[in-house]
Amino acid sequence: NKMALREKSIVFIGFMGAGKTTVGQLVAQKLYRTFIDIDQEIEKEYGMPTSEIFKTVGEKTFREREKELISNFSQQKLKIISVGGGAFLQKEIQEICLTNCIVFYLDVSWSSWKERLNILIDSRPVLQGRSLEEIEELFNKRQNTYSLHNSKFTTDNLEVEEVADYIIESLKL
Ligand code: S3P
Repeated sequence: NKMALREKSIVFIGFMGAGKTTVGQLVAQKLYRTFIDIDQEIEKEYGMPTSEIFKTVGEKTFREREKELISNFSQQKLKIISVGGGAFLQKEIQEICLTNCIVFYLDVSWSSWKERLNILIDSRPVLQGRSLEEIEELFNKRQNTYSLHNSKFTTDNLEVEEVADYIIESLKL
């Protein structure tokens, strides 16, 4: 891939509620780049929140659309893209992102993440109907997929501003 490093789009991956959208938005603002949140794009298309899409249209269709949109945006220059926590489970998505973009893993420890469960549960169908133990298992299992990143940062106890500045600094953008 011949795209210059500083022109590449940045894709934020990580578990639900890690801060991909919040951090991505701020990084985009600081770099004067366009921010794209894949979940929000799909929600706009269907005119309903993800939890409703999962219920009425189904997860399979959501995953297909997720793949198409990521494939489209990741091949564009200078974008800041936040993808859903389940997106990187798809091999094709991993490949297309790692080929075209800088993949940045926003990591959070389980103990910090646990505190966020209450504010996430209503909007995250994947968490619904699962016990805390089952969610922890999912959290741990998914670390394997997220480990396929170019850069990583653990955001525990940091302000969004600090995280965004660190990322920009570390990527030398
Ligand atoms: C999902 C994560 C969500 C959203 C959907 C499925 C997942 O995105 O794509 O609810 O499978 O982990 P966030 O990571 O932005 O919460």
